[in-house]
Amino acid sequence: MKTEYIKLDNNNPDREMIKKAGEIIKKGGLVAFPTETVYGLGGDAMLSESSKRIYRAKGRPSDNPLIVHICEIGDLYEAAKDIPEEALLLAERFWPGPLTMIFTKRDRVPFETTGGLSTVAVRMPDNRIALDFIRAAGGFVAAPSANRSGRPSPTNVKRVLEDLDGEIEMIIDGGDSVIGLESTIIDMTPYSRGEKGMLLRPGFVTDKDLKELLSDIDYDPAVFGKINNDAKPRAPGMKYRHYAPKGELTIVKGEDEGVISFIRRGVREALSSGKRAAVIASSENIRAFEEGLVIDIGSRKDDGEIARRLYEGLRACDDKDIDVIYSEELTYGNLSGAIMNRLIKAAGGRIKEV
Ligand code: TXA
Ligand code: MG
Repeated sequence: MKTEYIKLDNNNPDREMIKKAGEIIKKGGLVAFPTETVYGLGGDAMLSESSKRIYRAKGRPSDNPLIVHICEIGDLYEAAKDIPEEALLLAERFWPGPLTMIFTKRDRVPFETTGGLSTVAVRMPDNRIALDFIRAAGGFVAAPSANRSGRPSPTNVKRVLEDLDGEIEMIIDGGDSVIGLESTIIDMTPYSRGEKGMLLRPGFVTDKDLKELLSDIDYDPAVFGKINNDAKPRAPGMKYRHYAPKGELTIVKGEDEGVISFIRRGVREALSSGKRAAVIASSENIRAFEEGLVIDIGSRKDDGEIARRLYEGLRACDDKDIDVIYSEELTYGNLSGAIMNRLIKAAGGRIKEV
């Protein structure tokens, strides 16, 4: 299949092009599109055949549910029911924006879209191209991140093409993603049982932000990256190896001095045994590393920058066929929970304390 590439201006997307993209979805096709978090791979959320195609294009297990993207709050009631008051508070504050909420699904949402679950994840993205496109597509666009299953999510069109060129009808280029990490996910269904909402995936909307409106929330153990076979994560996606580069990534934790010398030694050993090695470090430490591929992931003073660059950094390792990767622990600012959640998963839980 030939994938059509179009580039749109996020402040003023060309209407004819948006209409064309919407028509593709209405006919059961797939379109990759920009959101403020990462690029999404969209299909009609109300068509089971479209959701099946999404799983095939991504190479994703079909028990891993998709997020339904909407463009106006009224449409929430078409996809979900038993919507608690707390959800409306969150929607008012954070939508459009990087927050996904889970509710009981309505019958019209096919089980193919929800991975067989009776609940549905809904989000309204904060990106003009995305909102116009969703409207043109009929209002309900199922979209996982636009990567092959298991790989880091794409934050620009080059990475979408790398994974999906030839597999889908169209790709819309809207420039670099401004956030760079997937949305925060909170399960709102416990409220109907008089219980607290449960955070399933941390993101740009932090738990602190949520608690301002909800007073308290519960946490799925997968949020902290500690998944074992006993703790079954509530967001099925969290059980899979995720966001991962092809090389073996180890997070090194401790005081700067010890971390730097451990990583330098590790890189040297890898290189001398004929392997390709990379280092992911904060701007503040970057000059301490000279050998291997050295990736500046951003300043410790700017967690937004680290979030924006993280997936591109992991993919840069794949570009160079890196075998061994060391990363500093990246625990700076309000986004550190979300950043470390992704980094720990990318590392398959490998953390070395020095
Ligand atoms: O920022 C985002 O959310 C991006 C952009 C494209 O909007 N999308 C995204 O989708 O990250 P995806 O498919 O890569 O991640 C969706 C996550 C998965 O971990 C999935 O298991 C979880 O949401 N999820 C979806 N529906 C669910 C449900 N009904 N119950 C529990 N978890 C659900
Ligand atoms: Mg994903």
